[in-house]
Amino acid sequence: MNTKQLTAAMAISDQAGTARAGLVSDGSRASRVPVAIEGAPIRIENIAKQYGSTTAVSGIDLDIRAGEFLSLLGPSGSGKTTLLMMLAGFEMPSAGRLILGASDITRLAPNKRNIGMVFQRYALFPHMTVYQNIAYPLRMRKVPKAEIPERVERALSMVQLNGFGDRMPNQLSGGQQQRVAVARALVFEPPVLLMDEPLSALDKKMRERMQIEIKQLQQRLGVTVVYVTHDQEEALTMSDRIAVMGNGQIQQVGTAFELYERPATPFVADFIGKMNFIPSRCIAVDDECIVVRVIGDVLIRLPRDQVRGGLSPVAGDMLELAIRPERVRIEKLGRSVGSGVSGVVEARAYVGAFQSYVVRLADGTMLHVQSQSGESSDCSFEERQSVDITFEPTALHAFRGD
Ligand SMILES: Nc1ncnc2c1ncn2[C@@H]1O[C@H](COP(=O)(O)OP(=O)(O)OP(=O)(O)O)[C@@H](O)[C@H]1O
Ligand SMILES: [Mg+2]
Repeated sequence: MNTKQLTAAMAISDQAGTARAGLVSDGSRASRVPVAIEGAPIRIENIAKQYGSTTAVSGIDLDIRAGEFLSLLGPSGSGKTTLLMMLAGFEMPSAGRLILGASDITRLAPNKRNIGMVFQRYALFPHMTVYQNIAYPLRMRKVPKAEIPERVERALSMVQLNGFGDRMPNQLSGGQQQRVAVARALVFEPPVLLMDEPLSALDKKMRERMQIEIKQLQQRLGVTVVYVTHDQEEALTMSDRIAVMGNGQIQQVGTAFELYERPATPFVADFIGKMNFIPSRCIAVDDECIVVRVIGDVLIRLPRDQVRGGLSPVAGDMLELAIRPERVRIEKLGRSVGSGVSGVVEARAYVGAFQSYVVRLADGTMLHVQSQSGESSDCSFEERQSVDITFEPTALHAFRGD
């Protein structure tokens, strides 16, 4: 980020302030608390961004509710930052429209948008102290001088940096610098806040603490947050909804539960949590169920509402069945009832709360299996032990096969 962008970014925060309610005060310093603000809704309409022959983002439609915490989650290069930069105004879309509240902001300069931003890389003013950095948006907004020390102090304590006000940015670790950047964006409490991997430089404990702090602040203020991360645990912890991005497109938008329990595509199924994929063929369909054949000759009846991606399979279609490791049952040979298949334990690990196995099935399919740990021993099954495997039919998802 260059100085021009940085200054523009700070100006964004200044703008945001004019739209938010002021402070309540009955005259005593202690009672000055921020008023709940109305977060603005954001509508993203058919947005695309092309860099030469590279399509960074294409055909994105997304409605973000006022006061919502929405995460953009996806692997590296999936277009998360590009989408955020278009929202902030630092990149112009190649096509589509962006609506903030009731205004079309597609062509609006960054400093005319009511948006605050925390960037992926540290973007502090290098010649200002930590205190001055955080106070900057307040000074620009002409917050009364007497209020500034208290609000800066509060922002500093929020990111666990009390006492660091006099340091220069180059006297801080990378993680500390980014925490100052978070404090500087939040000190202003803008109605819309964009954050691009703001915690990725922090260690795990601090990251988890900050996740809760940011979430609580967002809820207290009612600010709309669009939060970019490639850390699914972070997204699951913080978000009201998550938009999973892959190849410049939104693959699915939903709550953590919806994405985990009803993934719309194999990409989402694979990206959120762990998933086993098993090739299968549909051999019969009726009104309620489809019947599939897997692993040689095992037949499974699958309720139709577990067929994903709007598919209507007919007999003969190849399907990809998916099941989570914790929904696969592993038992001693001969113990299973129903549609069991036999396999051999290839690897095993004790992972505290659960035991993790890799089981090779008769047709060579490798299956990840998790079962809850008991108290008596580390693992219930040995390597090379033959076992029975059963699939809960209600835990299976069917996707289009090759
Ligand atoms: N200025 C640019 N010029 C050319 N290509 C770009 C530019 N910015 C991004 N891209 C390309 O657009 C695609 C999306 O990049 P983007 O930075 O949005 O991904 P991301 O999801 O934020 O990834 P990461 O998790 O690594 O930050 C990538 O293929 C990237 O190489
Ligand atoms: Mg990025």
